[in-house]
Amino acid sequence: MKQKKVYIETYGCQMNKYDSELATSILAGEGYQVTHHPGEADLILVNTCSVRDHAEMRALGRLGALNAHKLANPRLKIGVMGCMAQRIGEQILKEKRFVDFAIGPDSYRSLPAILDRLKEDNARQICADITDFEVYLDIYPNRESGVSAWVAIMRGCNNFCAYCIVPYLRGRERSRPADNVLDEIRQLSREGFKEVSLLGQNVNSYHDGDVDFPELISRVSQVDGILRVRFASSHPKDLSEKLIRAIAAHRTICNHIHLAVQSGSNKILKLMNRNYTREHFLSLLEKARNLVEGISFTTDIIVGFPEETEHDFHDTLDLVQQAQFDNAFIFKYNPRSGTAAAEMQEAVTEEEKLARLIELNELQNSITLNRNRELIGCKAEVLVEGRSKKSATENMGRTDTNKIVIFPARSGDIGKIVGVQIAGAEGHTLFGEFPGI
Ligand code: SAM
Ligand code: SF4
Ligand code: F3S
Repeated sequence: MKQKKVYIETYGCQMNKYDSELATSILAGEGYQVTHHPGEADLILVNTCSVRDHAEMRALGRLGALNAHKLANPRLKIGVMGCMAQRIGEQILKEKRFVDFAIGPDSYRSLPAILDRLKEDNARQICADITDFEVYLDIYPNRESGVSAWVAIMRGCNNFCAYCIVPYLRGRERSRPADNVLDEIRQLSREGFKEVSLLGQNVNSYHDGDVDFPELISRVSQVDGILRVRFASSHPKDLSEKLIRAIAAHRTICNHIHLAVQSGSNKILKLMNRNYTREHFLSLLEKARNLVEGISFTTDIIVGFPEETEHDFHDTLDLVQQAQFDNAFIFKYNPRSGTAAAEMQEAVTEEEKLARLIELNELQNSITLNRNRELIGCKAEVLVEGRSKKSATENMGRTDTNKIVIFPARSGDIGKIVGVQIAGAEGHTLFGEFPGI
């Protein structure tokens, strides 16, 4: 019998990438093999994100383009999965007649039933229940072999930041049992993975009985064969000294924290329901930098939140200057219907949001470059991930502070930690060389 093939395109955060691997694992049980060519697929899945309007528009655009394959092969099925399927699955089914089903983040176990039903009577379906308990305990994601793997340790979010749609689409926070997480990571190690990234919307609130996040990550760091452990994301209101001490104590836990500040203005942080102040945030950076030598910080920032005045924006510029982040992801505020902020009066025009985005990006880019240039002449330990996208004679890897390094390719290096000398820095990328070569 001809092998069935699934093509999957993933948008949004790392959690969605992990979910795509869960979905293809469930589909493997139904006889589907992953293909990278939509033209040869029997099933196309688009795993979508709703965090900003732009993300939704992109996914809708891609769906339209992928329909060309259905016109060529009417037996092809197209499904929308993920956060946007949860938010507007009904609407998508109504407006895009070529979409066969929509399935939300807690419903992936229903994929086989949906496909059976489609085969039976071609019924278009939606499955978007939020369960509040689903953690896909028994499903081992279908990863492409490689060096790094994502591992969701929890799902959902309880924080209800005023701007954010995620808690409405992914339900309440729930943690996976620690033993189950550790079993998955031991298996990853047996398969040759060298690095794991522990994922959750706020990993600091992970708990399984007495096992909190610092305890979990310490146990993960001791799994044989795992050279590096990363984690994301950390909410500043919950980042504990215990976690910072765990990072300092275990060589395998990477010296990098992604700590989203969102704004440098206490007034805006309060309106955002973030539950910390800029002073608390800056004190966390100081504490971590004192306890963990060379630790790096990345962050997320939103500009143009409702009621953000020039003065508030200057507080953000000032915080960014003081914080000296290694990198920042900066977004224009985008109202999401159903969130608390969507009810607030928007005071910042689109032009002003864009101007603030550009100004803040310029400031951060210069800080990033300066911080990277300070590393020139230093030795760095780099986990080699693979060939550089731009050159067949160079490899790409990351420092444990999560900086990308490009350096000469040597045979047998992929999957190993190698020592390189940093020789240059351009934008967000470092360039390394092997002394003596
Ligand atoms: N849970 C993670 C955290 O709190 O760090 C990340 C959540 S979200 C998926 C990623 C980033 O998108 C947020 O940190 C925030 O900066 C941005 N974001 C979320 N909602 C947004 C909105 N309505 N408009 C603009 N940016 C938004
Ligand atoms: Fe959204 Fe806040 Fe939860 Fe992050 S912590 S997912 S920003 S509600
Ligand atoms: Fe992630 Fe986007 Fe959903 S950021 S949690 S895929 S809304």
